[in-house]
Amino acid sequence: MIARAVVTVGLAVLATSAVAGERYDYVLHCAGCHKPDGSGSEVVPALDETGMMLSIPGGREYLASVPGVAQAPLSDERLAALLNWMLREMGGRAPVPGYTASEVGRLRKKPLREPVAERNRLLADAAK
Ligand code: HEC
Repeated sequence: MIARAVVTVGLAVLATSAVAGERYDYVLHCAGCHKPDGSGSEVVPALDETGMMLSIPGGREYLASVPGVAQAPLSDERLAALLNWMLREMGGRAPVPGYTASEVGRLRKKPLREPVAERNRLLADAAK
């Protein structure tokens, strides 16, 4: 009985810390540029269009390949969780299926050299 109670409490703590973990990772690794609420600045994009980017061809790959994402000092697992969280919380659209560690691991190997040009190209192609 006690063992089961300990496991149950442990799982509850883990579930809570998983949510706190993504917010924590965001604050630590992203908010310095994108602001805590994702609103960005004159030189850093707001993250509220990420859901829209997700819905155009190539957007899913793009989001995991922008330098700030691809080169974040986080494991593939935590980066995948962070992207899923960011899209849900700030992009207004959770990816389906969610990013996985292996997908993010593959995409982040090739950080975009010209992310703004790539974004414009994807948007132009999607508008055709
Ligand atoms: C040093 C500042 C900086 C940090 C830190 C940073 N970013 Fe960025 N981010 C940018 C800039 C600037 C851009 C615009 C593209 C570029 O020039 O890299 C961008 C673009 C993006 C985009 C594309 C948005 C769009 O609509 O096209 C996403 C998504 C993103 N960042 C997420 C993140 C996440 C998640 C983190 C934390 C792991 C992060 N960024 C850390 C500066 C930063």
